[in-house]
Amino acid sequence: MKVGSISEDRNVEKRVAVTPDIVKKYISLGFEVCLSENYASHLGIKDEQYIEMGAKIFKNENEILNSSDILVQLGMLSDDKSSSLKENGILIGVLNPYNNREKLENLAKKKINLFSLELLPRITRAQSMDILSSQANLAGYKAVIESFANFEKAVPMMMTAAGTVPAAKVLIVGAGVAGLQAIATAKRMGAIVFATDVRMASKEQVESLGGKFLTVEGSENLETEGGYAKETSDDFKKKQEELLSETLKKIDIVICTALIPGKKAPLIIKENMVNNMQAGSVIYDLAAIQGGNTAFTAVNKIIEKNGVKIMGESNILNKLPVSASSLYAKNVFNFVDNLFDKENKKININLDDEITEKTLIK
Ligand code: NAI
Repeated sequence: MKVGSISEDRNVEKRVAVTPDIVKKYISLGFEVCLSENYASHLGIKDEQYIEMGAKIFKNENEILNSSDILVQLGMLSDDKSSSLKENGILIGVLNPYNNREKLENLAKKKINLFSLELLPRITRAQSMDILSSQANLAGYKAVIESFANFEKAVPMMMTAAGTVPAAKVLIVGAGVAGLQAIATAKRMGAIVFATDVRMASKEQVESLGGKFLTVEGSENLETEGGYAKETSDDFKKKQEELLSETLKKIDIVICTALIPGKKAPLIIKENMVNNMQAGSVIYDLAAIQGGNTAFTAVNKIIEKNGVKIMGESNILNKLPVSASSLYAKNVFNFVDNLFDKENKKININLDDEITEKTLIK
């Protein structure tokens, strides 16, 4: 049995799906590990380090594509690469089924088993495979670091002989995995932190991290059974706007993380709200790639409006690809381990297993 991975397009993706540590784990399950040349050289990981762990390095990617029983990647493969995949083989990655539906359906018809890890159910057993959590956690941390680096004042309160510098006020919009890590990071750096969410379950979590939860007046709990946010009503939007418009006048840094799976990100911070913010404030929009939570967000640009900087990246994980790869590679290995029938030493696509059933694209 072969597990393979080929280089991603490094202009858009710097993470890798296999790290040297993980090679050993695949080998101990009985896999051969095949990687393309210079697989992670951009991360300072030499091919020799993979070879030492037992991996085989290939110059020709096609040899990996057409012989791997399981190909593990980050993003979707290009058409020419996916056409080389082995029949009955498995492709595991973040395949973005909402945008790539047609492409994926065509591959599924060609008997390629496609597993898209953003479809993992949020259940306890899947936690060790949960790429959304591992990556969102790092994204929340890095968004705080990036926004603070672009803020031209100090963040913690400082009482000095020359006077007192007030603590920066930070607002986190969306207190899911990324938002909660952003709260923890901003608190650690001495900021005063506020947060809001449509899921009332997040109130307790925000407060346990020392944040102040802003509840939209009269809001019901907009949480789906799977733990995700529902789309809000017009009435809710109006009340949220009133609450945030007032709050934002006093806020220095905003981290936006609000997402609804498979839908465009909700527009929460409108033009007039940005215009009313203090000059020198920074908004970091982690939802940029899904359209953004802020009116002026533009992917991979810093937009300045009345002295307010609005930042958004296409892939913030490219700014800490070593940490992100290390967690992603473990998540993927745990997923493969779950597919592996240890008694019969073979891959078993068992649709009675909720994790397998929910992630398989049919
Ligand atoms: P996400 O990335 O889909 O969304 C981020 C946050 O934005 C969410 O908290 C969401 O409620 C919020 N949001 C959406 N629309 C909003 C709006 N209009 N205004 C304000 N906030 C808005 O969410 P994430 O971080 O992936 O978490 C989703 C759920 O999964 C949570 O309930 C979390 O606790 C749960 N979870 C469960 C795990 C498990 O294994 N049991 C592991 C990780 C997360």
